[in-house]
Amino acid sequence: MSADPATIARAAELRALLEHHAQRYYVRDAPEIPDAEYDRLFQTLQAIETAHPELLTADSPTQRVIGKVLDGFAPVRHTVPMLSIRTETDTEASGAEAFDARVRRELALVSDAAPLEYAVELKFDGLAINLRYELGVLVQAATRGDGETGEDVTQNIRTVRGRAGAAGGVPLRLRDCTAAVLEVRGEVYMRRDDFDALNERQRAKGEKTFVNPRNAAAGAVRQLDPAIAAQRPLSFFAYGLGDVQGWAQPVTHSATLDALASYGLPVCADRAVVLGAAGLVAFHRAMGERRDALPFDIDGVVYKVNAVELQQRLGFVSREPRWAVAHKYPAQEQMTRLNAIEIQVGRTGKLTPVAKLEPVFVGGTTVSNATLHNVFELRRKGVRVGDTVIVRRAGDVIPEVVGKVPGVRVDYVPNFRMPRSCPVCGSAAARERGGMDYRCTGGLFCGAQRKQALLHFASRRAMDVEGLGDKLVDQLVDGGLIRTLPELYTLGVAKLAALDRMGGKSAQNLVDGLHRSKHTTLSRFLFSLGIRQVGETTAKDLARHFGALDRIMDASIEQLLMVNDVGPIVAKSIRTFFDQPHNREVVEQLLAAGIQWPEHDGSALQDQAALPLHGKTLVLTGSLPTLSRDEAKALIEAAGGKVSGSVSKKTHFVVAGEEAGSKLDKARELGIALLDEAGLQALLAAGEG
Ligand code: IVH
Repeated sequence: MSADPATIARAAELRALLEHHAQRYYVRDAPEIPDAEYDRLFQTLQAIETAHPELLTADSPTQRVIGKVLDGFAPVRHTVPMLSIRTETDTEASGAEAFDARVRRELALVSDAAPLEYAVELKFDGLAINLRYELGVLVQAATRGDGETGEDVTQNIRTVRGRAGAAGGVPLRLRDCTAAVLEVRGEVYMRRDDFDALNERQRAKGEKTFVNPRNAAAGAVRQLDPAIAAQRPLSFFAYGLGDVQGWAQPVTHSATLDALASYGLPVCADRAVVLGAAGLVAFHRAMGERRDALPFDIDGVVYKVNAVELQQRLGFVSREPRWAVAHKYPAQEQMTRLNAIEIQVGRTGKLTPVAKLEPVFVGGTTVSNATLHNVFELRRKGVRVGDTVIVRRAGDVIPEVVGKVPGVRVDYVPNFRMPRSCPVCGSAAARERGGMDYRCTGGLFCGAQRKQALLHFASRRAMDVEGLGDKLVDQLVDGGLIRTLPELYTLGVAKLAALDRMGGKSAQNLVDGLHRSKHTTLSRFLFSLGIRQVGETTAKDLARHFGALDRIMDASIEQLLMVNDVGPIVAKSIRTFFDQPHNREVVEQLLAAGIQWPEHDGSALQDQAALPLHGKTLVLTGSLPTLSRDEAKALIEAAGGKVSGSVSKKTHFVVAGEEAGSKLDKARELGIALLDEAGLQALLAAGEG
């Protein structure tokens, strides 16, 4: 059936649109629409072309690997083309099964043949790079470009250092590798914490922020000024090979990656060898559950036939290998309509503009609120009510509006302005000189701040009151049952049971939870008070240094400055807090309610010297067999030691586990004592008995 004029026009329109967006994405590193939207347009065009092959043009975006060589970088012709891989977006099981079935069919395996072995890995969301090593020395790094010809970005790639203490740098020289030519392919990416810190720095400088880690990474790699590129924190993972000469490749993909790792190339530890479709499904599911907790963005997982010999038999079809497939997860960015902007009041009174969105499914959940950070950021992004915006939800972070989709505004919409008064309590709203944030000046008079203060007080790392959630706090504050923190401890079962959705049992549970929370530690208590600038670590430092609450409450600025990591701003904030009679009263009432901690808690100065790790600085790297990072840190601190993030001459011990990275190298370089978990336990035990 030949296409009707509307379909013909639609196909032409889609081609033009895709051309435009591909140019924004690949050439300018400044996409205007989320990937998911691009994929949707792409698939729509593909569907039209499949139904009406006569509409297919040779230059259709569906027919080529897009990407262009930027002026400014020398072109690099890839000896072995850099291909892309086919994507499965289907549900967990069907995507994996379709791939396995296809591979088995193409290998002409009989239906009861043994399940195939697959190497499974993460699909990193960055940009593909080819690293060329000759006799173990990095001689060239190139982008993918159009797959045949990329750009020479060697200068910029030389600055990919990874993150201090974590693997992830591009080695300039391989360890014990004598291959005449070894081209390593992999992904340059930016970790989420590095991305957040970079955007924070950009904001502080009033410069443009990046939409997501991938764009920030792509922009850095293709930055014409290597000095700027060097300031962008990038990391790398190897996942394959290009041209190879004078090197015997292992017979499987997984062993190939092991070999690369042994040369000092960063290879992601989250990979496995699995059997059959069931193994693929299990990996897809397991990584889907861990996705938010990973330190970097992934957009899916990749399945590869493990045996190199089978890969060769399978070969390629239209620039895609038949032996590999990417299986995607729900997109972390979507477009939706900005319906309204509201102001949210935080624990410290900070007023945050929050986007009220047309609900949209992003990053695996439905999102209808997203932060706009502050009014300056909002202005810079140029978003106004009614616009189509891009929402991002990645990791455990709060969803945010990262930008808007260019479009014509039909109606006049005024620019958003911050209110002069707090929308919750009506107190004046003020901006600190030079700061970006507006704050409500109402303090605990403000219902919103009171709610947040209660939630913080009860939170797991503070007083750890079980059963006190935000719905309940809303009721307690809005119903006038609680005005101050100490009043929490006056709540009885009868009063609580009368509240909405609170039976006698949950009321009793909360009362029990409150009772249990009274036995705490000095540092938790300090942290729970919500003193500005006093986070968990500072609270611990204060408790350890002073050993007793009254000594902290009465400490002078000079005395406070003696504490580890306490600077003038923190010291002033602590002093200001305890100078307010009303805050001292809150503390007294809480103590009167029965809150207590062991006398020696935080180990007063004199006890410190007796602790086994007193005065020692330790660095943790890699993963330990039984202890989590937090547990190891807690044990070391309890034994009087300090945990530092980086290795220096002042480090006493480096505790190294599996996958220990550059910290271990540094420790060896500096000749610092190394411990494994058992060694650490032995040191800790030295103080017992
Ligand atoms: S393998 C011939 N493995 O995804 C197979 N690619 O189209 C070549 N990617 O932009 C690709 N993680 O940069 C492979 N573990 C992984 C990957 C991966 C991310 C990217 C790659 C390319 C796209 C594949």
